[in-house]
Amino acid sequence: MVEVLVTGGAGFIGSNFVRYALGRHPDWHVTTLDKLTYAGRRENLHDVMNHARHAFVHGDIADAAVSGPLVEQSALVVHFAAETHVDRSIIAAGDFIRTDVEGTFVLLEAARRARGLRRFIQISTDEVYGSVASGASRETDELKPRNPYAASKAGADRLGYSYWATYNVPVVITRASNNYGPYQFPEKVIPLFVTNAIDDIPVPLYGDGRNVRDWLHVEDHCRAIDLLIETGTDGEVYNIGGGNDVMNVELTKRILAELGKPESLIKPVADRPGHDRRYCLDTSKLRSLGWTPQVPFDAGLQETVDWYRRNDWWWRPIKEQDPAFRSYYQAQYERRS
Ligand code: NAD
Ligand code: TYD
Repeated sequence: MVEVLVTGGAGFIGSNFVRYALGRHPDWHVTTLDKLTYAGRRENLHDVMNHARHAFVHGDIADAAVSGPLVEQSALVVHFAAETHVDRSIIAAGDFIRTDVEGTFVLLEAARRARGLRRFIQISTDEVYGSVASGASRETDELKPRNPYAASKAGADRLGYSYWATYNVPVVITRASNNYGPYQFPEKVIPLFVTNAIDDIPVPLYGDGRNVRDWLHVEDHCRAIDLLIETGTDGEVYNIGGGNDVMNVELTKRILAELGKPESLIKPVADRPGHDRRYCLDTSKLRSLGWTPQVPFDAGLQETVDWYRRNDWWWRPIKEQDPAFRSYYQAQYERRS
């Protein structure tokens, strides 16, 4: 069995990756290490929690006593664990520094000691490039992160690189664009807008709504990571983008149309401070390894909207019963109205 450690495997992308990996690789034993923050939920892994080749460890990546031995016994580490929401990083950045930067440092220190480690995938983000007015970011471009989340991820990204350059830790860094799909916490724009609209609650569109994001289906992301585990080169960075550049207002209208809801639900609200106008990735490096996105955006969005419609058991408890979510929502959106 190949021992695989997935950090943050109870979050959105991590849980999709755990499910993908167990299905795709019958010779992998996957250990999920997750702190179960507000964004990490056992429910995200409900169908694989008791899988014979899956183990779940509740713990903090920054706790070396817990994460160190798990890294040392692994052949592959896929490091997703992070604080991930830009708006929360603007309110308070401490947890982003602790998890995204210090937590990554703790894992990399253990990776230095690991004897059988073949690959350490450092999951970074397109946000490290900052806002790109035109053209597409290449892996060699300067990093210009502009919010505390993006800056903490840039720190982790370069820390990973430094552990390859200095200690030969087999780190590969990925910079993906905005993901969408099932099990995304309903603070991010697509699940928030879909679940609000289902209940006829207005959808709060920041600023003029003309910011552009490049949407990547989470399964295409999983396929890219899988490919890079096998064929990536140590110390290299790979962009992963869906090639679906869409303005937020256009995205919002598509969601509402999919649900048969009126555009009058769109509520323009105050903009996010420092809101990056546009992200766009050049993915030719990854495509040269044989990857292309498989999920067309229209079909992927339709399926995703449908998933939230059919799985309200998953999001209603968060939105309707979790006092922490309700107070976050009030604080975040009352200020904006
Ligand atoms: P998420 O917020 O849904 O999940 C993060 C997970 O990490 C949660 O399960 C949480 O409990 C866990 N976690 C947080 N702090 C931890 C700690 N100290 N120790 C152990 N576990 C901890 O995030 P996501 O959207 O799935 O993102 C996963 C990764 O992908 C992140 O590194 C993020 O920066 C990166 N990324 C995300 C996107 C996107 O669009 N969602 C795009 C590019 C890159
Ligand atoms: P988000 O899902 O938070 O991802 P990111 O900030 O990592 O791109 O936001 C995606 C886009 O949607 C971004 O331009 C901000 C915008 N947005 C809104 O207009 N309203 C909202 O309530 C949220 C959460 C985001």
